[in-house]
Amino acid sequence: MFDTMTVTKVTGAICGSLLVYLFASWASDALYATAPAAHGDEEVAQAYSIDTGAEAATTEAAAEGPAFADVFAAADAAAGEKVFGKCKACHKLDGSDGTGPHLNGVVNRAKGSVGGFGYSDGMLAMASESWTPENLDAFLTNPKGYVAGTKMSFAGLPKVEDRANLIKYLESNP
Ligand code: HEC
Repeated sequence: MFDTMTVTKVTGAICGSLLVYLFASWASDALYATAPAAHGDEEVAQAYSIDTGAEAATTEAAAEGPAFADVFAAADAAAGEKVFGKCKACHKLDGSDGTGPHLNGVVNRAKGSVGGFGYSDGMLAMASESWTPENLDAFLTNPKGYVAGTKMSFAGLPKVEDRANLIKYLESNP
């Protein structure tokens, strides 16, 4: 009888402390999920993985040779017009859309902002940002790595000179 009581007490104590532990971890989960929402959120986690892709692309480009900024400073729009041949199947510079949105004035234009064009969710999620030359460089290096689930079926331009010249050409088409 006494033994049974002891067993019951011990079992009760263990269950009690387990409960306390569960409540404590539940409470801390709730705290962490609400207070610095920057890290727990699924959407933010996605944004973070997009960052990593862009970072990887930049490191890759840097490892390949000169930095984009230096190449872009000396870029040649006429050479970029030839590179644009790879984009023409989908993109126009006459203000009309094709498979892709028109690219008039795309440098410094807000991402995913051409009215009436059916962008991917990944692109629309970035609509508060603009296409700076650096952003375009990262996107054109690896479109799928930069915009998760992009509708742009294009492998990317591996050469930094091609990207810099092309972006210079796009910049000259307001
Ligand atoms: C096979 C068709 C195709 C090719 C080739 C292609 N694109 Fe695209 N592009 C698209 C589509 C479709 C989108 C919309 C992507 C989305 O919504 O995720 C897009 C989006 C873009 C955007 C974002 C525009 C905006 O309004 O936010 C840029 C910039 C861009 N492309 C540049 C280029 C350049 C430069 C090239 C050539 C090196 C190129 N694309 C080649 C189909 C293409």
